[in-house]
Amino acid sequence: MEMTAKIHEKFVSLFSESGVQYASAGRINLIGEHTDYNGGYVFPGAIDKGIVAEIRVNGTDKVNLYSLDYQASCSFGLEESDAPSEQWARYIFGVCRETIKRGGVVKGFDAVFAGDVPLGAGLSSSAALESCFAFALNDIFGNGIDKFELARIGQSTEHNYCGVKCGIMDQFASCFGKKGSLIRLNCKTMEYKYFPFNPEGYRLVLIDSCVKHELASSAYNKRRQSCENAAAAIKKNHPEIEFLSDCNRLWLDEVRGEIPQEDFLRAEYVIGEVQRVLDVCDALERGDYETVGELMYQTHFGLSRLYEVSCEELDFLNKIARKMEVTGSRVMGGGFGGCTINLVKDSLYDAFVSEARSSFAAKFGHEPKIYDVVISDGARKL
Ligand code: GLA
Repeated sequence: MEMTAKIHEKFVSLFSESGVQYASAGRINLIGEHTDYNGGYVFPGAIDKGIVAEIRVNGTDKVNLYSLDYQASCSFGLEESDAPSEQWARYIFGVCRETIKRGGVVKGFDAVFAGDVPLGAGLSSSAALESCFAFALNDIFGNGIDKFELARIGQSTEHNYCGVKCGIMDQFASCFGKKGSLIRLNCKTMEYKYFPFNPEGYRLVLIDSCVKHELASSAYNKRRQSCENAAAAIKKNHPEIEFLSDCNRLWLDEVRGEIPQEDFLRAEYVIGEVQRVLDVCDALERGDYETVGELMYQTHFGLSRLYEVSCEELDFLNKIARKMEVTGSRVMGGGFGGCTINLVKDSLYDAFVSEARSSFAAKFGHEPKIYDVVISDGARKL
């Protein structure tokens, strides 16, 4: 049975009537990693894996949720002190609270939801969940909040209810995603541009290491702190800067002796990465996929050696891609496990995927998972 039909069946069995269905998406990111919270560029797109929720206002001041994936229910009130302890429910509680904090109306509702974004794969299942509910509640209660603010509702949910000081990329992609297009976003000005992405003769494939590191969120917050330290040191010499993305390599070199080596390396990566996004966009417009791919390898090197968010399994997958002359490959998303994103020639696809599967399994004792990427629409009513 389709996910939407399963959700509907459960909704009717729990709440006797029908609700309205909404959907939202996970995301990929072609390039521009850990640049969002530094005011730089990102280049994501929504994917055909996401969250679907059926929702109905219930006339009370309670929210009643059922997660089909966890086969668990949870009810909570809408005051700050009503926060549930289950993590999956906190995402939705956070979205309700952040909507209310912005002057929006949220009253009691019933909801059943399910998703097909693999968890912990770096495809932003949590942003998909947040965006789905942010979009749905805005529609149902007629709040008229714009899509940028809906994305920020999801981001603030991560900050205030989930302990992750994330940037805006995932929730933005999930709210603004458009079928067939990647979106280049300037995270400082929030200007964005859709780029139709249909690389003839190439495919994007994700290889999921199925590794999920504990403490990924505290390591993530630590990376962000390093970037802020480096930017603060540079700002002493160049007061006009706001974010690390406003800095160049020379300015970073000026403070080399003043900041810890670790912060220096993190900043070195970010400054390079901001430029790589622009270079990838130029190369794409010329149809120059070889350059796009080469820049992806450079990003992997930076994420692995300078930013240190890769791991043995992901470095291994990247090496196989290089060995097989795959056009581009790199760790994607926050890191500390998850997927590599690979730009592969059609003619090489089968050989690459089968080599990646077998040599990874021989080394690590389990097969990686393979996901073909389909760039799809973001948050919407079904
Ligand atoms: C996670 C965060 C994003 C972004 C990426 C890294 O997905 O949620 O805001 O920082 O990591 O690019």
